[in-house]
Amino acid sequence: MNILAFETSCDETSVALVRDGVLLSNVVVSQIDTHREYGGVVPEMATREHLQNIAPVIESVFRDSKTSPNEIEGVAATRGPGLPPALMIGFRAAQGFAFALDCPFVGLHHHEAHLYSPWMNGKKPADWDSILPSVSLIASGGHTLLVQVDAPLRHKVLGTTMDDAAGECFDKVAKLIGLPYPGGPQIDRLARSGNAFAYDFPRPMLGDLSDDFSFSGLKTSVRYFLEKNPKLRESESRIRDLCASVQAAIVEVLVAKTIRAARRLGRKCISASGGVIRNRGLRSALKSACAQHEMQLRLSPPELCTDNAGMVGLLAELYFKAGNFASVNDDDIRSRWPLDEIGTNPEASQTHL
Ligand code: KG4
Ligand code: ZN
Repeated sequence: MNILAFETSCDETSVALVRDGVLLSNVVVSQIDTHREYGGVVPEMATREHLQNIAPVIESVFRDSKTSPNEIEGVAATRGPGLPPALMIGFRAAQGFAFALDCPFVGLHHHEAHLYSPWMNGKKPADWDSILPSVSLIASGGHTLLVQVDAPLRHKVLGTTMDDAAGECFDKVAKLIGLPYPGGPQIDRLARSGNAFAYDFPRPMLGDLSDDFSFSGLKTSVRYFLEKNPKLRESESRIRDLCASVQAAIVEVLVAKTIRAARRLGRKCISASGGVIRNRGLRSALKSACAQHEMQLRLSPPELCTDNAGMVGLLAELYFKAGNFASVNDDDIRSRWPLDEIGTNPEASQTHL
C-alpha cells in the first residue's frame, strides 16, 4: 500500500511516502534558520514558511520515491496537537489529495506517532507484534510524557509536565547561555566535552512519587547561577561544564522517573521518542539504566525522533490495516488534544475517528 503522509504541527514541513511499511521518502524542511533570530518559533512565520515549502516538498517526495500521485492508496496527516495555522497547512493538503484521488484518509495524533516510532526504522515494516507492555517516555520541545503502552494503539498517559517540557528547558537554558536556537543539540554537543559534576543543579520532582515532571525551576536556577557568575560566558570550558551539568540534571530526572514507573508497573520494556531522545547523553543513560534493571530498551532512531512525516505514514499504515479511517470531510485539526482521549480502551482505535 502506498501512503502519502504530512506533518506540519510546528516548524518542520514534512511529507513522506510509505510503501508496504517501508519509507521510500521522508523529506523534512526545517525552519530553524527563520526562527533562530527570534529565539523560538513565531507562529505567523511558521505558517508562511509551511505555505511556501509544502508544494516543493510534495514534489520532491514524488520524485525521490519514483511514485506518481495516482499510485497513492491512502493519505495521512498530523491532526493535532500543534500550532493551529501550521497544522492546517499539512492537514488541508492531505485532505485535498485524499479528495482528489478518492482514497482513504486518516488524521493522527502527533504524540501517538512519536509513541510508536521506537518500533519503526523505515527500512523494513514495523514489527507491531513485538510491542511489549512497556513504559514510554516522550520528550520533545512541547511535551514530556510518561505513557503506559499495553499493546499497539492501546496506551494510557501516566504523567506529564507541570510547566516547561524537557526540550523547552534545553532551549531556554541554551538561550540564557547565549547559544543559538534550538538549544538542545548545542547543549548536547558542548556537554560531550564538559564535566557533568562541575556544578550542582536541582533534579526537579525526582523525589516526587508521581509520574509528572517540572523543568521550569531548573531553568530558573541556571538563570540565578549565571547572574551570580556573569563572567562564566567568557570561558569556553566553563560553558561546556555548565552544559554538561544541566544536561546531567535533565537526564537523571527523565531516566529515574521512567525506570521507577516501569518497576512499579512490573514492565520489562522501556521505549523513548521525541526530539530530546536524540540527546546522546540521554540515550546512553537510558541504555545503562535498562541494562542495570534488566529491561529491554526501544529507542526511536535519531532521524525519526524529531518531527517528521515518516512516523505519521508508518502509523497510518496500522490504522488503514485495521480499517480505521475517516471520510475526508469528517475530520478537522485539533490544536489541543490530550493523548488520553485515544488508545485508552480496547475499542479506542475503532472509535476515535
Ligand atoms: O519532537 P520535536 O522535533 O518537536 C516537538 O514535537 O516539540 O522536538 C524538538 C525539541 C527541541 O526542544 C530541541 O531542542 C530538542 O527537541 N532536541 C534536543 C536534541 N535534538 C533536538 N534536545 C537535546 N539534545 C538533542 N540532541
Ligand atoms: Zn514532535
